[in-house]
Amino acid sequence: MALVGCGSAVPAATITNLDLSARVDTSDEWIRSRTGIGARRVAGPGETVTSLATAAGQAALDHAGWRAEDLDLILLATSSPDDLFGTAPRVQGALGACNAVAFDLTAACSGFLFSLITAAQYIGSAGMRRVLVIGADQLSRWVDWDDRSTCVLFGDGAGAVAVQACPAAENGLLAFRMRSDGSRNGCLTLAQSTQHRPLVAGLSAQVGGFTPIHMNGQEVYKFAVREVPAVLAELLEASGVAAEQLDWLLLHQANQRILDAVAERFAVPNTRVLSNLASYGNTSAATIPLMLDEAVRDGRVRPGHLLASSGFGAGLSWGGALVRWSGPQIDASLPSAVAA
Ligand code: UT7
Repeated sequence: MALVGCGSAVPAATITNLDLSARVDTSDEWIRSRTGIGARRVAGPGETVTSLATAAGQAALDHAGWRAEDLDLILLATSSPDDLFGTAPRVQGALGACNAVAFDLTAACSGFLFSLITAAQYIGSAGMRRVLVIGADQLSRWVDWDDRSTCVLFGDGAGAVAVQACPAAENGLLAFRMRSDGSRNGCLTLAQSTQHRPLVAGLSAQVGGFTPIHMNGQEVYKFAVREVPAVLAELLEASGVAAEQLDWLLLHQANQRILDAVAERFAVPNTRVLSNLASYGNTSAATIPLMLDEAVRDGRVRPGHLLASSGFGAGLSWGGALVRWSGPQIDASLPSAVAA
């Protein structure tokens, strides 16, 4: 498959570190030095996962030069859906993508990468030709705003990438890996919280909602700096690509120290590590496409560039992909020979 368009959308309101330090016992200095985060966007009235994902998706369609009705599939990576039955169909309806099947994929901060890889499988084996892959999260709904250890980290946003079937020679997904370790699930959760409500004699139902995000930051940090380099090293070796050949590291934006540690492991200079943590913090499933869109639009990422990407987070889940950015095709018609 080829990556031919991208788009993103963020809420209007910004909350700075200074704003937060008026609310919880923290400081701009602590947040910046420990995470690299300077501000984050928080959804206001009328802004939802659906609205952000739709805006990002529309921008990616426009960039690719596609009409919504040309889409075969919309994959929405989100862990904060507007509707637990699925938010992707709302996005499909809002875009007017009447010929596309649409569904959610939940894998927290690995969700976008897992969705991109999933899109390739549908293109390769199910004859789908145009797919919109969106990562969108509104974790501000699920953060405990009185917990300084987590509320400074997260922000809201959405990003999208348009991918299409292409001849094998133009394939933009060179290699990938996906991993899960549920034995460490408790390190990072947004878990259900239920109460028993009596229904009839001897029988009760579990009713309730979800508890705010809980994270063992140090454990997740150690996990990330161990597993992300390992999965990327595996990918480079399997595909015969040397780290020097990478144009960019496009990692999940969780902590600048994690980005730096991964870059150091591969001797990739800081100038080739994409980071927008200072502006947006950790937007969960949105970080990778949001970062890609910014870098494509300001001209850093150009057609033909090779990127090593990795998503990691709750699950625990993680994965990596070597991708080549194609950019909008001058001739938007699809070839007859296709490859995933
Ligand atoms: O997207 C999903 C993946 N998530 C991640 O990758 C997150 C990975 N983890 C991290 O990025 C880091 O662990 C954090 C940024 C979350 C925390 O940084 P840390 O260097 O691991 O700090 P810590 O948890 O070890 O806490 C150090 C101290 C503690 O105080 P004491 O016990 O040493 O007195 C915390 O209570 O910092 C304190 N602390 C804060 N102080 C000021 C925790 N949060 C804050 C805060 N402001 N916001």
